[in-house]
Amino acid sequence: MNVLGIDVGGSGIKAAPVDMLTGSLLADRVRVLTPQPATPGAVAEEISGLQQLFEWEGAIGCGFPAVIRNGVARTAANIDPSWVGADVAGLISRATGCPVSVINDADAAGLAEMTFGAGQGEKGTVVLITIGTGLGSAIFRDGKLLPNTELGHLWLKGEVAEKYASDATRKREDLSWERWAKRFSWHLQQVERLFSPDLFILGGGTSKKHEKFLHLLEVDTPIRMARLFNDAGIVGAALATSLP
Ligand code: BGC
Repeated sequence: MNVLGIDVGGSGIKAAPVDMLTGSLLADRVRVLTPQPATPGAVAEEISGLQQLFEWEGAIGCGFPAVIRNGVARTAANIDPSWVGADVAGLISRATGCPVSVINDADAAGLAEMTFGAGQGEKGTVVLITIGTGLGSAIFRDGKLLPNTELGHLWLKGEVAEKYASDATRKREDLSWERWAKRFSWHLQQVERLFSPDLFILGGGTSKKHEKFLHLLEVDTPIRMARLFNDAGIVGAALATSLP
């Protein structure tokens, strides 16, 4: 089966049809800018445009940067606040006429890595952290997802962790990689204390620059870099349609 995967982010919305058996993209992914303000109506319109571009009539899976419960957004840290309480799945379904499943964006990236990437076949506790505008998280126990963990919202040095240690903060505060890696290590250490993971997987846009910071991280848990990079969000969004 093929599913149109859509990854909604704070700055871009990416989409491509995904082969669910192999996790490969069946066409080049298309990226459009996230409308500003990223209100429900404006985002749904962009998604409808992407659906038309791919002439898509089947199932759609959508990754969204918020806590998602039964298709409804419960938070909106890096997206317009008007999303809180919005029925994301219903809205996109009405805009496209397709059946839609919605999942948190980091959970989507985690699903993709566990199924086709760096976490394939991994048992035990695996924690994937996405590094980008925010810090996303996905926790797996023996391959099964515990959704909506939002570890980027843990408290760190008197601030929300993602405000202190995200890539957006590194850029905004012009931090050296050494200083940022120290902050990010503290975040990982806190996650270690809480969950004693067997493996960390680091994904998100910034994971592409891993040669700048991987050797600077100070944690006991083994770290693996995500393998699907930019495609993880799209592939994992598509996989959300097969979750129970
Ligand atoms: C949001 C998460 C999201 C993460 C990465 C955070 O601000 O609260 O839901 O997974 O950003 O996009």
